[in-house]
Amino acid sequence: MEKIILAIETSCDECAAALVRGDKTILSSVIHTQLETHLQYGGVVPELAARAHLETIQAVVTRALTEAGCGYQDINAVAATIGPGLIGGVLVGANFAKAVALARGLPFMGVNHLEGHALTVRLTDDVAFPYLLLLVSGGHSQILAVLGVGQYRQLGTTLDDAVGECFDKVAKILGLGFPGGPAVEAAARLGQAQRFALPTPMRGRPGCDLSFSGLKTAVRRQVDALLNTQPKGLSPQDRTDMAASFQRAASDCLTDRVSQAMIVFRRDYINQVGYQVGYRAGDPAHDPAGASMRQEPTLVVAGGVAANQTLRQDLAQLARQQGFRWVAPPLALCTDNAAMIGWAGLERFRLGLIDPLTVPTRPRWPLDEMNEGGRA
Ligand code: KG4
Ligand code: ZN
Repeated sequence: MEKIILAIETSCDECAAALVRGDKTILSSVIHTQLETHLQYGGVVPELAARAHLETIQAVVTRALTEAGCGYQDINAVAATIGPGLIGGVLVGANFAKAVALARGLPFMGVNHLEGHALTVRLTDDVAFPYLLLLVSGGHSQILAVLGVGQYRQLGTTLDDAVGECFDKVAKILGLGFPGGPAVEAAARLGQAQRFALPTPMRGRPGCDLSFSGLKTAVRRQVDALLNTQPKGLSPQDRTDMAASFQRAASDCLTDRVSQAMIVFRRDYINQVGYQVGYRAGDPAHDPAGASMRQEPTLVVAGGVAANQTLRQDLAQLARQQGFRWVAPPLALCTDNAAMIGWAGLERFRLGLIDPLTVPTRPRWPLDEMNEGGRA
């Protein structure tokens, strides 16, 4: 019998619960967004988010059980995000999950939210370790070599803002609303990307680090310059053209940095015999499809910004050119959800990486600070 896990995600403004089965079936995935709570502030207010999670968590979990046709007696394990994220919200979800685990005597897995994003492709596709991952969300922009569950090597990270944050700020500057990413993408579809010349920070530089604050500042400057000559404000065409120009520059930055990372990944993780420290080649739990033998490099994109079609197309093209297999989760599993936490929980459960109920929640928790046991 395949195991069924109940998973909870409350690290930002989505209150989410899911039931996932070991055969990769998502039995239910409920996402309650707090859009209305935060809309008037133009961003997520941590204290309000925590209170809203507290009000909705019970109903969200009950709905996830009902939609899956399950009761608590059908669950074999419980998982929840225990960090990184807005700590008030994380506490609500993690404590709810721990209470269920305690009451039902079930194993509990505390999941790193970023690991949830990183492993999603193994839920949706047949992807073996190791793979190259571009992780792009509201709080993170990283390029990682994913070697196994709990085994991540950072190849590059942003020196300033996360790219998702940059999408959100640009949306605000252009008055496109919140959340910014989808709004910028929708506006960009109607605009001319050639209209505004914007910088692509770090492009062509050695290494795999990223930077976005210069791009954001350039958008603000050009918008200010326009406003100086147009007292009536931005026209719809100005907005869509700037959205398109920004999206093009952001995707160019990311694609350039990933192309650098591909070279490093091939050199350090693919073209080596017995290549990784701590990587258990041949261990079916770590390398079920024998990717280390086939030596087929894979590029994966994950996190909320991975929902962006322009970025997906650019990365797919790069992968084709560089001889990488290209895999991206479906859009609904790119942005925050609990199914990804359930899957990461199941992967940990299979490896015996069960946490005590005393495991702490963590506001900050970089992926490459995880070790074999999953804790820094
Ligand atoms: O992973 P996620 O849902 O939450 C975090 O863990 O941060 O990512 C949210 C981020 C936000 O900054 C949002 O604007 C961005 O992902 N995003 C997008 C798109 N959809 C969401 N950015 C660009 N294009 C999109 N279609
Ligand atoms: Zn996320």
